[in-house]
Amino acid sequence: MAAPNFAEPGFAKPMVQHLTQDLDLSQEALTRILDLAAQVKRTPQRFAQALAGRYLSLLFEKPSLRTRVTFELAIKQLGGDAVTMVGPVGEREPVKDVVRNLDRWTQAIVARVFSQDTVKELAQWSHVPVINALSDLYHPCQALADVQTIKERFGRWEGLKLAFVGDGNNVAHSLMLTAGRLGMHVVVATPKGYEPKPQVAAAANRLGRITLTNDPLEAVDGAHVVYTDVWASMGHEGEKDTRLQSFPPYRVDETLMSKTRPDAIFMHCLPAKRGEETTDAVMESARSAVFDQAENRLHAQKGLLLTLLG
Ligand code: CP
Ligand code: NVA
Repeated sequence: MAAPNFAEPGFAKPMVQHLTQDLDLSQEALTRILDLAAQVKRTPQRFAQALAGRYLSLLFEKPSLRTRVTFELAIKQLGGDAVTMVGPVGEREPVKDVVRNLDRWTQAIVARVFSQDTVKELAQWSHVPVINALSDLYHPCQALADVQTIKERFGRWEGLKLAFVGDGNNVAHSLMLTAGRLGMHVVVATPKGYEPKPQVAAAANRLGRITLTNDPLEAVDGAHVVYTDVWASMGHEGEKDTRLQSFPPYRVDETLMSKTRPDAIFMHCLPAKRGEETTDAVMESARSAVFDQAENRLHAQKGLLLTLLG
């Protein structure tokens, strides 16, 4: 089939469902993605040709293990394929030109970039879905896998308390928005000066119950889930030494885990720096769900691709 000529006069840019940040998904779309993720995990063979002949462009400005492998495998296991490009987006030619090449050849664009503005610009010009595979502000694909993991462990989201302890970063933002609107009480404990962005907290608070604190003990008290992430995200490595002065009280170690409920689980998006934001003992403990989260990146992203491209 010939590619549609969007440049033709009168050919309107179609409405496209993007995932530039968590709230691009309606509550209905979020529920559908998570239902499909559970179904495709149970019976992957039923979906083996669901996206036959569909291709993804994967753009990576930053390193990745889980996101890259799971998007490549997800589309292949749904009958399609992917091309992966590593390097800065918009350096050799403008972002708006890059995207209007890729959208003629591939049916979705998955981008891990430094700036959320790049994701927004990709989506502004793209005629096919743009998926944020991590930016400075959000990591919505991670949050999808995380809430899938929590549902598997507890059978529900309503009424659970999730304590995010550490840096108020992209992963914290997406959890506030996604876990919060599924009915979890999300408590984020950070050092002073490292709180989540006020505009994200305000948006999350409109949809769910969010508490911000500087006290890690208040956060984990009665928590069902204790979540942490690196203290210096990709792009902030230069601040590592400064951050090491404020973050040690926020380390998720066995002492902090002992203040939670007996059935509380430990979560981390990975990669983890053992000895910094958490310890080897916690990572390897029976409470650790970190490799379930990593596995669910595959299933959750299949649910996402089926919803956006199906
Ligand atoms: N959690 C996560 O996104 O891992 P990668 O950086 O390896 O993709
Ligand atoms: N907050 C981390 C997450 C890595 C998956 C980062 O942005 O580097």
